[in-house]
Amino acid sequence: MPDQGQTIVHDVPLNVAQQPDPYPLFERIREHGAVQRVRLNPALEVWMVTGYDEAVSALTDPRLSSSPVRVNGLAEEMARQERTNVLMASMLVADGADHTRLRNLVSKAFTARRVEELAPRVREHTDAFLDAIAPKGSADLVAEFALPLPMAVLSELIGIPAEGQPEFARLAVGLIMPPNTPERLAKGARARAELTAFFEPLIAARKAEPRDDLLSALCAAQAEERISDRELTAMAILLTLAGHETTASLIANGVHALLRHPDQFAALRDDPSLLPGAIEELLRYEGPVSRGVARFTVEDFEIAGVTVPAGEMIIIGLAAANRDPARYDRPDILDIARREMPQQLAFGHGVHFCLGAPLARAEARIAIGSLLRRFPDLRLAAPDEVLTRREGILRGMATLPVTFAPQG
Ligand code: HEM
Repeated sequence: MPDQGQTIVHDVPLNVAQQPDPYPLFERIREHGAVQRVRLNPALEVWMVTGYDEAVSALTDPRLSSSPVRVNGLAEEMARQERTNVLMASMLVADGADHTRLRNLVSKAFTARRVEELAPRVREHTDAFLDAIAPKGSADLVAEFALPLPMAVLSELIGIPAEGQPEFARLAVGLIMPPNTPERLAKGARARAELTAFFEPLIAARKAEPRDDLLSALCAAQAEERISDRELTAMAILLTLAGHETTASLIANGVHALLRHPDQFAALRDDPSLLPGAIEELLRYEGPVSRGVARFTVEDFEIAGVTVPAGEMIIIGLAAANRDPARYDRPDILDIARREMPQQLAFGHGVHFCLGAPLARAEARIAIGSLLRRFPDLRLAAPDEVLTRREGILRGMATLPVTFAPQG
């Protein structure tokens, strides 16, 4: 029976590196009920949804907002952030008409058709990264493949020049750290200021001389007053940020999971038609957004026998929901040929459903498919126990050392 969530507060560390395998913790929390109190850091207690059905209904309920300015006790801090944090002007934390307006400005760039047009370019980048490692017989697939591939693809789409990519990647790391200490909060604020400064000259250049990229399209929208200057900068940062570490983690986590399950690796290598379903299963089994997405109650909100008062923060635990035994048969088993797939929540659900999902899926299919085809004997080059998770709020790998027969 659920205990109404009031008595127990479960600790959920925000930094993924501190907790290499969060799934047993999610399972323990769920045993107390699908909606529970959790402590993200000593000063921050919030609610967490761990059930699949409950997560879906929460993500479509108008009583939940994506805007943190509504949180009790944080109003002052949030009002300050609203003024200083450029990402508070992004679609991710917008509701209603503002959200629709911002999302519509870029949604055409991420349709399935547009992504299909991008696929040959994704393949070229993939081949180039794999060509570079092929003669060596060993590689760190995080640094040499999973991280640079989505950065190369997004940069072309958005309009970041190649020489700016390492700088963007360095700055972006500051934004995926958990904001749970004053130092980290300050570092995040610095990273946002530096990213704003990073995009400033690029935006000015596109305004002066438009090209065939998303930044130029956004500048045109800004000229027609459909988006403000601040929203334009927020959009550029959000798109690059949201599409980089996430896709990199899907590729790295996915390859890592396959290498730990040689039967699944072999099945996929021998039958590439399994790829689309395999990507969905990898997203379910070890999705990059391992804590979940935040929502804020606009009014009292009853869910799973619990009433969450207005003004509270709720984490919708996407990764926890993706292993809910009420939804999936043998949820902790990786099975790339699952019958009940492809439904999973790694890209969220509802109006904020990941805009880049078609692109992320295509990149993962091309990246993992090409890797297995070219290196059929791929193996982990270090014992799994010594591999660490990347620091931050997303679940990714710090390194992924592999070996294979050298080529060429
Ligand atoms: C939103 C996950 C790749 C752009 C989201 C959300 C999730 C998510 C869970 C929902 C946030 C919420 O409900 O609050 C992922 C994962 C990815 C990925 C797991 C890779 C495996 C991408 C890519 C892009 C992208 C490649 C493209 C640049 C966005 C944007 C939003 C979003 C713009 C905000 C949508 C909105 O607020 O309406 N993503 N994402 N993502 N994602 Fe992704």
